[in-house]
Amino acid sequence: MATTDHRIDELLAAATAARAQAYVPYSHFAVGAALLDDAGRIHAGCNVENAAYPQSQCAEATAVGVMAVAGARRLQAVLVLADAPHPVTPCGGCRQRLREFGGADTVVYIANPQGVQQRYTLGELLPASFGPEHLR
Ligand code: THU
Repeated sequence: MATTDHRIDELLAAATAARAQAYVPYSHFAVGAALLDDAGRIHAGCNVENAAYPQSQCAEATAVGVMAVAGARRLQAVLVLADAPHPVTPCGGCRQRLREFGGADTVVYIANPQGVQQRYTLGELLPASFGPEHLR
């Protein structure tokens, strides 16, 4: 049980709505992400691909930008939603992007259309990480 579990349904709904907007003409692999900030607000994003494939953007990266525009700077929880045979966890680059605004205790829910399948902490997904406090 995590302290953010009571927000799972809202995070799922936000990620589902965002995922429906995914721009994925190349991979056809739609992902939605929802972020719960420290004020309890939810920010969501989808993946946005590009004909120059490496310029494609993950759903988590979009959601981080959306959160920043809203003025939020701290993450309580993250939910990633995809539809795949194996649970889809954030890629390495996105783990670092989330780490900028989250900490070892930030909850990361991994979901498919049937609901949340796994729960991690960011510390589990990105142990011994580098973060903004190293630069202070
Ligand atoms: N993708 C995400 O948006 N988030 C993840 O956590 C895993 C991968 C996207 C990137 C690309 O648009 C597609 O999924 C296939 O890799």
